[in-house]
Amino acid sequence: MINVAIDGPAGAGKSTISKGAAKELGFIYVDTGALYRTIALSAVRNGIIDDKDAVIKMLESIDVKLGFENGTQCVYLNGEEVSAYIRTPEISMGASKVSAIPKVREFLLDLQRDIAKNNNVIMDGRDIGTVIIPDADVKIYVTASDEVVLPKAECKIFLTASAECRAQRRYKELIEKGENVKYEDVLSDVNERDYNDSHREIAPLKPSEESVIADTSELTLDESIALIVKIIKEHM
Ligand code: DC
Repeated sequence: MINVAIDGPAGAGKSTISKGAAKELGFIYVDTGALYRTIALSAVRNGIIDDKDAVIKMLESIDVKLGFENGTQCVYLNGEEVSAYIRTPEISMGASKVSAIPKVREFLLDLQRDIAKNNNVIMDGRDIGTVIIPDADVKIYVTASDEVVLPKAECKIFLTASAECRAQRRYKELIEKGENVKYEDVLSDVNERDYNDSHREIAPLKPSEESVIADTSELTLDESIALIVKIIKEHM
């Protein structure tokens, strides 16, 4: 099985780019953020999103599963397909909160590793190259520098773009979905989540060593996909 790890901050374009690259390569695209979002959804529904102990207790009684239909990922909470409910700003912030709880990360570890073990995957997250599949076949590192460095043997993918650029993309996405949001609020959410995700004690967002660096700020979607496919093919 071929495993590709892609890590980077919220809104860097990871999911769109990874989806496109996975389609081109015939791999399964795994969005691991959806797992943290599903736990957040469950916590929000139970009114316990700010109560760590209650979230940990909740893990004993919930069932989270990923499914793939025609190459599209679906996420199930206790058998209910919840993909449509996990993309709101409230759940985004909730996911950032629950993802800082070590027991939550532990709860989702085997699920992610099993998928990688049994499929050709492009797995997108924050700790895929560092924790989930540290022995990923293809390791590339994508960052805010325009200097792309191809390391020796393997590389991990780490995508980023400026906070303003990412907030702009997310804002557009939310407006298109009919959500009533202000750009300033989206930007401050992006900054707050970046801070949380990179400063938590467990599995913080950070590039792994020996990774290729790529910045998508100035690239179109197609150019970003082409860049990632090229990097993966070069290392396969
Ligand atoms: O990629 P996303 O925006 O859907 O992720 C939602 C939250 O989940 C994000 O704030 C960080 C967290 N996350 C994580 O900690 N580890 C992952 N592998 C994926 C997401």
